[in-house]
Amino acid sequence: MSFETILVESPSAGVTLIRLNRPEALNALNTQLLGELSQALDAAEADETVRCVVLTGSEKAFAAGADIKEMSDKTYAQMFSMDFFTPAARRLEQFRKPVIAAVAGYALGGGCELAMLCDFIIAAETAKFGQPEINLGVMPGIGGTQRLTRFVGKSKAMDMMLTARMMDAAEAERAGLVSRVVAADKLLDEALAAAAKIASQSPLAVMMNKELVNTAYETTLSTGVAVERRLFHSLFAFEDQKEGMAAFVEKRKPDFKGR
Ligand code: CAA
Repeated sequence: MSFETILVESPSAGVTLIRLNRPEALNALNTQLLGELSQALDAAEADETVRCVVLTGSEKAFAAGADIKEMSDKTYAQMFSMDFFTPAARRLEQFRKPVIAAVAGYALGGGCELAMLCDFIIAAETAKFGQPEINLGVMPGIGGTQRLTRFVGKSKAMDMMLTARMMDAAEAERAGLVSRVVAADKLLDEALAAAAKIASQSPLAVMMNKELVNTAYETTLSTGVAVERRLFHSLFAFEDQKEGMAAFVEKRKPDFKGR
């Protein structure tokens, strides 16, 4: 599969690395890029040897938002009929394998929203997060008003969306938007090491963990805990549970087969 706006690599067993690659536009998200990203995710989902995806940009920008030049002349009818951004957002929302966002530089507007659609964010010290759509007379359109508020709380989300101020990596970590902050030159190594660790686990247990953490955003505590209990019990039907626990008892590394 060949792409023009993203680069897809397989840096280690079980890991797919997707780099957003529109340097001339700071990786602004246009229709072509979002389409190619969806296709690359389709391929990663269908390939059972792929266990984890890392999504990254460049040193200067993860993504500086939706492509303003492409969007500026669109009419309401066009935005509505093409359902701007929805297919790519849905693709990530429904992606069953873990996706790590490795963010350096700007993650603004749709770029911040894209990072939040991933399962967790590892940030370089240079990362800057923001929802500056208000400067353009609009608002976030890929879930930013909802997801950022859940990540950082109402006060910071309002501050960022209404004043358009950016959050640096340290503030983003304090606020719970990112899971860890690393030196810029270590960003990819850290993200790929995390992905390799995930790829070495039982893919069934990984998918169930992911599903249940996401369930916490969609349901009550008692319902979420009840679903967790059932899925925890169900894991005992898999060979991977036997292998994982036997390996612990036998003091060796487990060899998970995904069954
Ligand atoms: N769309 C299209 N092109 C963009 C872009 C975007 N979101 N962001 C940057 N670019 C382009 C610039 O136009 C410029 O191209 P030219 O050289 O052809 O003029 C190139 O990328 C480099 O950008 P700058 O010269 O502006 O770089 P800078 O270092 O001076 O500033 C920046 C960097 C602060 C990120 C600035 O580019 C900027 O403010 N970008 C826009 C950020 C933004 O408003 N994002 C939200 C978009 S709307 C959205 O995302 C809606 C949604 O939720 C769906």
